[in-house]
Amino acid sequence: MTDDLDAIRQETEAALAGAADLRAWDAIRVAMLGKSGRLTALLKDLGALPADARRARGAALNRLKEALTDAIEIRRRQLEESALAARLAAERIDVTLPPRPLPAGLVHPISRTMEEMAAIFGAMGFAIAEGPDIESDWHNFGALNIPAHHPARADHDTFYLPPERAGAPPPVLRTHTSPVQVRTMLHTPPPLRVVVMGRTYRADHDATHSPMFHQLEGLAIDRDLTLGHLKGCLIDFLRAYFGIADLPVRFRASYFPFTEPSMEVDIGWDRRSGELGGGGDWLEILGSGMVHPKVLANCGIDPSVWQGFAFGMGVERVTMLKHGIPDLRPFYESDIRWLRHYGFSPLAPAMLHEGV
Ligand code: DAH
Repeated sequence: MTDDLDAIRQETEAALAGAADLRAWDAIRVAMLGKSGRLTALLKDLGALPADARRARGAALNRLKEALTDAIEIRRRQLEESALAARLAAERIDVTLPPRPLPAGLVHPISRTMEEMAAIFGAMGFAIAEGPDIESDWHNFGALNIPAHHPARADHDTFYLPPERAGAPPPVLRTHTSPVQVRTMLHTPPPLRVVVMGRTYRADHDATHSPMFHQLEGLAIDRDLTLGHLKGCLIDFLRAYFGIADLPVRFRASYFPFTEPSMEVDIGWDRRSGELGGGGDWLEILGSGMVHPKVLANCGIDPSVWQGFAFGMGVERVTMLKHGIPDLRPFYESDIRWLRHYGFSPLAPAMLHEGV
C-alpha cells in the first residue's frame, strides 16, 4: 500500500537533485505540494477510503509530506547557497588593482605666479590687499598725482565708462593696480605692508599686449623706510621668484608721477639665448620708487612722519620670462593643449628659493 508513496518519494528526491536552479526547484515543489499537486491530490483522495484504511494511509501520506517538505527545503538552501556563491564569483572585485587615475585639473600659469608672489612677499611680512576693477578717476589717477591733462594719462590707453552724472569724470577700468595703494592708505593706519595682485585694463592688443592683463603692486609705509629697504626687498623677491641666487639686478633712475625718486629695475639676461642670469644684457622688469609725499598726503598720511616705497610689475611678463612662454595671447584662449603644456599640478607646492 505504501509502495506508490516510496516511489513518489524517490522520484521527487531524484528530481530535486537534478534541479539546476531555483526555477526548476519551484516547479517540483508546486507539482508536489501545490493546490493541484500530486500529494495534495492523494490527500484529497483519503476521504473516499474506509475508516481504518484511511488512518494508515493518512499516516503514511503525512510522513511522505514531512519527508518531501524537508527535502524540498534542504534543496532550496543548497540552490540559494550555490546561486550566491556564483554571484560572488562573478562580481568579484580585485581590491589590489591600482585605481583609475581621475582627470586632474592644472593651475593656470598666471595663478601659479600669483601664488608664488603671495608666498614670497608673505614671508617678508606683506599682507594681501584688493580693490575693484572699476575705479573712480580719482583713485586711478588723481590721488596718484596724475591730474587731468597730465601727460602720463596718455600712456595708459584708458577704457572709460559712462559717467554717473553729466559732467562728472567717467569711471575707468583700472589701468594699473596702483589705485589699491590709495584704498589701502585711506583705510589702514600705517605702518603697513601690502601686495596687490589683480586684473588691469588698457586699450592695447598685440603679441605682447592684451587689453586685460595682471599686475603685482607693492606698498610699504613706515617711519624710516629708505631706498635701501626698497632695493633689498626687490632684489630678494626677484632672486626668489626666478630661483637664481645671484641674479644680477640693476636700479635705474626713472619717472612715475606717484613716486619720488622713481626707479626702473632691470635683471641680467642673455639677449641671444633668452637665458636669465648672466649674459651681460639687461631686461626691464618693473617700476618702483619712494611714495611721493603728495600721494601720502592725498591719502591722509602725514609725509613728515611717514614714508614708504612702492613697486609694480606685470604678472604675465615675469611668468613668460620664468617659464619661456613666447606669446602672451594664449594665456586667455583657454586652449586645453596650452593649459596642459604650461599648467601646474595643484599638488606641487611652489619651490621657493632659500634665504627668503
Ligand atoms: N603703475 C605703474 C604702471 O602701471 C607701475 C608702477 C611703477 C607701480 C612704479 C608702482 C611704482 O607702484 O612705484 O605702469
